[in-house]
This record gives sequence, structure tokens and C-alpha cells, in this order.
Amino acid sequence: MVLADFMIATATVPSFISLFKNLLAFGRWLHAAFLRKPKDLRDHSSWAVVAGATDSIGKALVFELASKGLNVVLVVQNPGKLEATSSELRERYGTTIEVKTVIADFAKLSGEVIAAAMTGATEGLDVGLLVNNAGMAYPYARYFHEVYRELMESMLRVNVNAGVWVMKRVIDGMLKEKRGAIVDIGSDSTVYISSYPLRTLYASTKPYIKIDIQIWSAKQCDRLYVVIRS
Ligand SMILES: NC(=O)c1ccc[n+]([C@@H]2O[C@H](COP(=O)([O-])OP(=O)(O)OC[C@H]3O[C@@H](n4cnc5c(N)ncnc54)[C@H](OP(=O)(O)O)[C@@H]3O)[C@@H](O)[C@H]2O)c1
Repeated sequence: MVLADFMIATATVPSFISLFKNLLAFGRWLHAAFLRKPKDLRDHSSWAVVAGATDSIGKALVFELASKGLNVVLVVQNPGKLEATSSELRERYGTTIEVKTVIADFAKLSGEVIAAAMTGATEGLDVGLLVNNAGMAYPYARYFHEVYRELMESMLRVNVNAGVWVMKRVIDGMLKEKRGAIVDIGSDSTVYISSYPLRTLYASTKPYIKIDIQIWSAKQCDRLYVVIRS
């Protein structure tokens, strides 16, 4: 009986630890979302880089950042969409914010070329925020063996390769200034449907550059450790 009680108690410990971790995460989210005073993003610097800036989530983030007074570097693949986004920004914010652009098709360019394009556009700018949002999924769900070669190559380049090179270029400046923030847009498919056979490749590429959200300042630390999970 004593042994049985001991085994049951031992078996429940991981459950309590897991419950505690989830409650803690929920509490942190509540605090950050509703209680904590919003951070003034301009404390980091006056420039933000958004990769994948002309559609959906990325575009919405660009307008949100611009509304906070940040200048933005738009990293995009499609010149037509860039023109539309730029003129919407001009219409809404006039000359109160500055906009710079990088046109790069992440599916076609090597990392070195992406980094060189980023350097050209961000040279001399004090970039304090990077949003790695560019990403691609399948046009429709499919099994791994149905992912044709070109689609596989593009997905690996866009979701894995490009983000690393963009980050590499931007992070040097942040380290020099000892302040900055990087936001990588991941996907819940990694957590909830990673073993779902119709999204295998997409779900495995998304967490590659996920470093959660790292915000640091000269006061908080003098070193940065980037954890790339794969
Ligand atoms: N929407 C969701 O439900 C969802 C869920 C989980 C995760 N996410 C992630 O959230 C991010 C944004 O998703 P979204 O729904 O807003 O998707 P989206 O509308 O397809 O936007 C993706 C962005 O990535 C850019 N992009 C795609 N291929 C590119 C390439 N070859 N070179 C350069 N840029 C490229 C797109 O540029 P163009 O506009 O020029 O095509 C677009 O700006 C992605 O990383 C996605 O994986 C989305």
C-alpha cells in the first residue's frame, strides 16, 4: 500500500509541474497583454525591419509599428504589392515616418545575396526591431512525398534559410548598440499538428528560427545568446 501510494504520488509530480508551468505562462501572458505598461518601441531605436511586409500579418504589423512612430524597412518579394503598401503608408502617415525597401525573392536568392541586399538598405540605420514574418506554406495540404522538389526547395529557403541571413545582418548592429528586439513569427502547427502527416514539411520548417521574443537592453545584459531550435 505504501509503495502504491508512493508510486502514485511520484507519477503525479510531472503533471503538477506541467500544470504549474502552464499556469505561469498564462499568468505572464495576462500580465503582458493587460496589466503591464506598454513598452515604447522607440526606446530601442527609430527603425524597424519587417520581412514579409506587404500582406496579411506582416502588413498589419507594419502599420502598427508606423502608428507608434517607427520608421520601417519593408523587405518584400513583390514590387507591385510594395507600391500599394508604400502608397497606403504615405497616405496615412505622410512624412512623419520614413520608409526604406528591400526587394528580394527569398525562394530564389542565396543567403549571401539576401544579406548583401539587407546591408545595402540598412547601412547606417539604427535598427532596433526585426520582425521575421516572411513564410510560405503549401497551396493546399499534402503528404510529404507529394511535395514536389521546387516547392520543397522554396519552403526551405523562405522559412529556414532567409530568416537566418536577415537576422545575421540585423543582429550585428543590435549587438553594437546593446539593445534591440527580434520577433520570429512561428506557427502553432509546430506545436499542435507537427505530426499531422499533411503538413509535415511546413510544420518542421517553422520552428527553425524561432527564438521566441528576445528583448534586451544595455541595462539588462551585455551579451546576447541566440538559441536556434531545430
Ligand atoms: N495565417 C495564419 O493562419 C498563420 C498561422 C501560423 C503561422 N503563420 C505564419 O505567419 C507568417 C505570415 O503569414 P500570413 O498568413 O500573413 O501569410 P501571407 O499572407 O502568405 O504572407 C506571407 C508573407 O511572406 C512573404 N513571402 C512569401 N514568400 C516569399 C518569398 N519567396 N520571398 C520573400 N517574401 C516572401 C509574402 O510576400 P508576398 O506578399 O509578396 O507574397 C508575405 O508578405 C508566415 O510566416 C506564416 O508561416 C500564419
